[in-house]
Amino acid sequence: MNNNNKTQFQKVLIIGLGQLGLPVAKYVKEKGFDNVYGYDISPKAMERAEKTAGIKLANDFSDFDVYILCVSTHKPDDIFTPQIEGLLSIVDRISKEAKRNRALVSIESTIPRGTSNKVFEMLNHRLHVAHAPHRWYALEEKEHGVNQLRVVGGVCNCCLEAAMQFYGGNSSERVVGDNSSITANNTIITDGNDNENSPITRKSLGVPMHPVSKIETAELSKIAENAHRYLQIAFAEDLYLYCQTNNINFSELRNALNTKWNVEILEPREGIGGHCLPKNTKCFCNHQNL
Ligand SMILES: NC(=O)c1ccc[n+]([C@@H]2O[C@H](COP(=O)([O-])OP(=O)(O)OC[C@H]3O[C@@H](n4cnc5c(N)ncnc54)[C@H](O)[C@@H]3O)[C@@H](O)[C@H]2O)c1
Repeated sequence: MNNNNKTQFQKVLIIGLGQLGLPVAKYVKEKGFDNVYGYDISPKAMERAEKTAGIKLANDFSDFDVYILCVSTHKPDDIFTPQIEGLLSIVDRISKEAKRNRALVSIESTIPRGTSNKVFEMLNHRLHVAHAPHRWYALEEKEHGVNQLRVVGGVCNCCLEAAMQFYGGNSSERVVGDNSSITANNTIITDGNDNENSPITRKSLGVPMHPVSKIETAELSKIAENAHRYLQIAFAEDLYLYCQTNNINFSELRNALNTKWNVEILEPREGIGGHCLPKNTKCFCNHQNL
């Protein structure tokens, strides 16, 4: 599919309005998008998004320029095990209901390698497919919220270009289609295919992005980052337990170790908290199921 089009991303649907999806929906609205809709299988989550953030509720998936997928990607009864069936059921609905060709489907949930290609096959490239995994952190939302540097990949070049256009890109100029370009904060784009006298105003999220050439790299960047963090925490925990067993002052040992330029032992916490690190680390061995 050629991205030689005049896509203006105006009507945005965020699917999954949980811990991550709700701040994403709020952010999109704050960036000046008037038509921000939300959908969740949980009526409670929908009600909360409507009441606390004025997010309009979507009854169907037919009429949108962008679909942002923030649904959970673990088994409903086991938060430590990855499962993408829920996400794929959403994509199935989008493939049947979406009316606008070349709309953007951006997966922000954490997914096993191969998921984006599967989504792409299901949509038959009628819509663009990108993956922009999140680095949002609940405990430090101000510093590490929605608007921080993120990796992004597209299944095809045109998918990546569409995603860069929507999110805001970090390059001073990127070509979209034959005659269009995106500026640094890409709010104004002049497209020679349009009425020559009128530049098109396109909104974007203004999120700095780090584009990668293959979508699998984007998928793996999130999983590997979490696995790395998992190992760092696990090592600190293990060392702490060793110190307790052997009557050694862990803090003193840690301080001593961290005097070396390339060593950074973490503080021990009470095990590895949350569901993200264990689940995402397991994504490494889950890809054969796709
Ligand atoms: N929370 C974080 O800090 C964080 C950070 C980075 C990435 N992520 C990733 O983002 C994704 C969402 O995480 P979260 O923390 O927001 O989870 P969450 O459980 O808080 O929210 C997920 C929401 O998705 C909804 N949902 C699940 N299946 C659905 C379906 N089939 N259709 C519609 N809605 C559905 C749930 O009802 C829920 O409201 C996960 O893949 C997670 O790994 C989360």
